[in-house]
Amino acid sequence: SWKLGDFADAVIQRVREQVGNRRVICGLSGGVDSSVVAALLYKAIGPQLSCILVDNGLLRKNEQQLVIDEFTNHFKADLRVVQAEDRFLASLAGVSEPQEKRRRIGSDFIECFKQEALTIKDAHFLAQGTLYPDVIESGADPDGPAATIKLHHNVGGLPAELGFELIEPLRDLFKDEVRRLGLELGLPESLVWRHPFPGPGLAVRCLGEVTRDKLVVLREADAIVVEEIEKAGLYRDTSQSFAVLLPVQSVGVMGDARTYENAVAIRSVDTNDFMTADWSRLPYDLLARMSSRIINEVKGVNRVCYDISSKPPATIEWE
Ligand code: XMP
Repeated sequence: SWKLGDFADAVIQRVREQVGNRRVICGLSGGVDSSVVAALLYKAIGPQLSCILVDNGLLRKNEQQLVIDEFTNHFKADLRVVQAEDRFLASLAGVSEPQEKRRRIGSDFIECFKQEALTIKDAHFLAQGTLYPDVIESGADPDGPAATIKLHHNVGGLPAELGFELIEPLRDLFKDEVRRLGLELGLPESLVWRHPFPGPGLAVRCLGEVTRDKLVVLREADAIVVEEIEKAGLYRDTSQSFAVLLPVQSVGVMGDARTYENAVAIRSVDTNDFMTADWSRLPYDLLARMSSRIINEVKGVNRVCYDISSKPPATIEWE
């Protein structure tokens, strides 16, 4: 087994003092921050920790399995997976307006999380992966981008409503320190360096109405984009790289037949702060591989575009 770094040791000590012998609930999303919080708490208090993963059906390919492998096979944490795909998809049926999608996903998330949390007896704390930059931003414009970003993961009403005390062990840390801590705690590089993924997940990359069938197409196309970026050794050089399923069909030709199928956009951006971003100058050969793989391997797609818009005025996500 590995030796923990001094940095991790110090943070663990602080958490133990704060928690004592009480029980902590931690939401897991598959992202870096919540994973580091959970790993940290597991190292600090082991069986006093219960983790909750809400599978909203909007996760990336293999994402649920990745979290389960990490937290129940590697760390032997108590992880409860709430299988809520049907519920989320039912809420999203017929909805195409982006903010309305976010609102529904956010409220379903809170309901699912709450239901599961209430089954955990004697829980005292709710852990959150708030970072130092979030703490600074929370003083900013309540309708600004930061506030909008937090809309989904904002379980702010939850601790009070359920009588939990909030514990935010990453509150003093910047992102690079969180990554370092994650590595010291034994999380794999693939998780620690994972690109950020929005709380509403694939729903905001599946333009217009979200359906199970569209999600299958998007998830496969997205996995190809990420896989090819990784193979090219460019994953760490880009800030976010993903696929977007467009709500248009276009004409193509396959053999002797005319096709009329979906278009996928590839989005890859470079940014330091996610407030401004530039599109990644990906090599043409890489784009070519992504395009031909998506068109050949993903049923229902006959056209691939590369998004060459910077932020502003375009946002990173399409919705
Ligand atoms: P935009 O699209 O506004 O995104 O340029 C900036 C960053 O925020 C992420 N993002 C979200 N994260 N809930 C989240 O948790 C959301 O509703 C949301 N919308 C955008 C986006 O992926 C990018 O990293």
